[in-house]
Amino acid sequence: MVTLQDIKQNEAIRVLIRAGNRYLDAMGYTEHGPRHVSYVSKTASGILKALGYSPREVELAAIAGWVHDVGNSVNRHDHGPLGAVLLLPILKETGMEMADIMEIVTAVGNHEEQSGFISSAVSAALALGDKSDAHKTRVRDGKPDVTDIHDRVNFSIQENHVTVDRVNRVIRHELTMDESSSVMEYLQIYMSRIVMCEKAADFLHCSFDLVINGQSINNRPRAEETERA
Ligand SMILES: [Fe+2]
Ligand SMILES: [Fe+2]
Repeated sequence: MVTLQDIKQNEAIRVLIRAGNRYLDAMGYTEHGPRHVSYVSKTASGILKALGYSPREVELAAIAGWVHDVGNSVNRHDHGPLGAVLLLPILKETGMEMADIMEIVTAVGNHEEQSGFISSAVSAALALGDKSDAHKTRVRDGKPDVTDIHDRVNFSIQENHVTVDRVNRVIRHELTMDESSSVMEYLQIYMSRIVMCEKAADFLHCSFDLVINGQSINNRPRAEETERA
């Protein structure tokens, strides 16, 4: 099986990630380079591993995390579907099985909160990995533009962890923010991402718990649990 290590060494993918990150830098977006894709890869695969998914799905989630943002090299708008289409021939050339390629293509093509639909475990894990990446190290050169809400929110995040409670089926996203931004500002810019995380967790038969500065933000049981009660 083609592994994450093989994909990391692929020159075409390396160039695409660099081009996408450069384009988003020019647009004034936070970091979308090796730091981001490495976080997403680790988090997505870690979630599936913790929930007991197969080694194949764990590896595919790791690969999907690494390649998910390559479409930004074409355009920010629809970068998910654009990336998916770019990836198919590149992944084929690596010798990856067509069924594995399609797992990645579907996950990448659906990772944007605007148009994404969760239809597989790999896709759910990718969404959770991607949408949970907010941290001070995402602000470019460590210099926040204080007039930019994304910079303010990210720069105020001192700690960021995603943990999985397999027994109680909870995926918990815990953040620690300092006073240079606020929970209100986090919710203002990331609400649609939080909703996507809830849908992704639900696909994995888990609840999604967002905890900011020790406070649970979405303190509601999952729909499935409410129905059962
Ligand atoms: Fe993306
Ligand atoms: Fe991303």
